[in-house]
Amino acid sequence: MSNRLVTIFGASGQVGRAIVERLCHHGYRIRATSRHPNEALFLKPFGDPGQVQTTFADISREETVIKAIEGASIVINCVGILYESRGRQKFQALQAEGAAAIAKAAKKEGVRTLIHISAIGADQHSPSQYARTKWQGEKAVKAAFPKAVILRPSIIFGPNDSFFNLFAKMAKIPVFPIPVVGPKTRFQPVYVEDVAEAVIRAVMNSGKYQGNIYQLGGPEVYTFRELLDYMLEVIGVKKFIAPIPFPIAGFFGWWFQLWAKFLPITPPLTLDQVQLLKNDNVVPATAKGFEAFGIKPTSITSVVPGYLVRFRPRGRFT
Ligand SMILES: NC(=O)c1ccc[n+]([C@@H]2O[C@H](COP(=O)([O-])OP(=O)(O)OC[C@H]3O[C@@H](n4cnc5c(N)ncnc54)[C@H](OP(=O)(O)O)[C@@H]3O)[C@@H](O)[C@H]2O)c1
Repeated sequence: MSNRLVTIFGASGQVGRAIVERLCHHGYRIRATSRHPNEALFLKPFGDPGQVQTTFADISREETVIKAIEGASIVINCVGILYESRGRQKFQALQAEGAAAIAKAAKKEGVRTLIHISAIGADQHSPSQYARTKWQGEKAVKAAFPKAVILRPSIIFGPNDSFFNLFAKMAKIPVFPIPVVGPKTRFQPVYVEDVAEAVIRAVMNSGKYQGNIYQLGGPEVYTFRELLDYMLEVIGVKKFIAPIPFPIAGFFGWWFQLWAKFLPITPPLTLDQVQLLKNDNVVPATAKGFEAFGIKPTSITSVVPGYLVRFRPRGRFT
């Protein structure tokens, strides 16, 4: 086992767990942080006994960030939220100020490598607070830790994704059509394991990647509608897809967004997400991406059927 300690924020999330598994394989010691360390215990068997330690950190509380980074030589930030909820879970507090707190603490601790996960579409002028705070986070990270590696994925797919799994679940609800906002909006879905592999290569060869932003997309671009059609084909369900015009979606999104700030609910849609859906989510032609890491990205067709099979009417037997 290596002496190098890696602190990962958001280790229990979809991307974080894929990174933990790979880092374990390469022999790193891991401090996997989350607000609910008991719920992150499933990460421990990824490594040898004692290799993965789960611990508390809430990146909206600077003191917990500083404590989590003590003694680490590599720091990875995988924290992001899709909507604001009760308490401290706010875009500004996490994606802008939390990212800044991590970068400052990493600099102070003398950390060698900082990897920051942002998102395609991070933009200071976006009407979406998600995208604006992702941009502010990047800016703060670059200011505090200029050698940080910033990764901007498009929408991420994998067994624990919240895209294909969510819509497949909706497709199983009898009678109701599947609503789609922005059916022509384009995405470049990227496999979670490819994102994790890019992180590992950036960790193991940090000199080569430091100070750069990489935009990570899969091999194909699809419209939102095409992705839903594909999902329905995979699970073998016929369903009407109902396009919802932006103004109507915005109204409902505003309501759900408001309720989510007071009640413990997961809003099916927010106004902020409606704003995001107005723009394509694809890698710009001039951006640095997977080729810089020597990774050939995986297509949805080679992975998605494997984990959506449970949504097929008779599972594997159809
Ligand atoms: N998924 C996508 O399609 C996608 C696309 C583009 C960019 N990204 C970005 O990629 C990164 C990873 O995404 P993901 O899909 O892995 O997200 P995820 O599955 O939702 O995981 C988010 C992680 O953040 C942790 N977290 C939330 N609030 C926190 C807080 N206040 N303090 C500390 N940890 C907190 C969560 O753990 P606890 O709740 O237990 O604390 C969880 O481990 C994020 O930055 C996200 O914005 C994702």
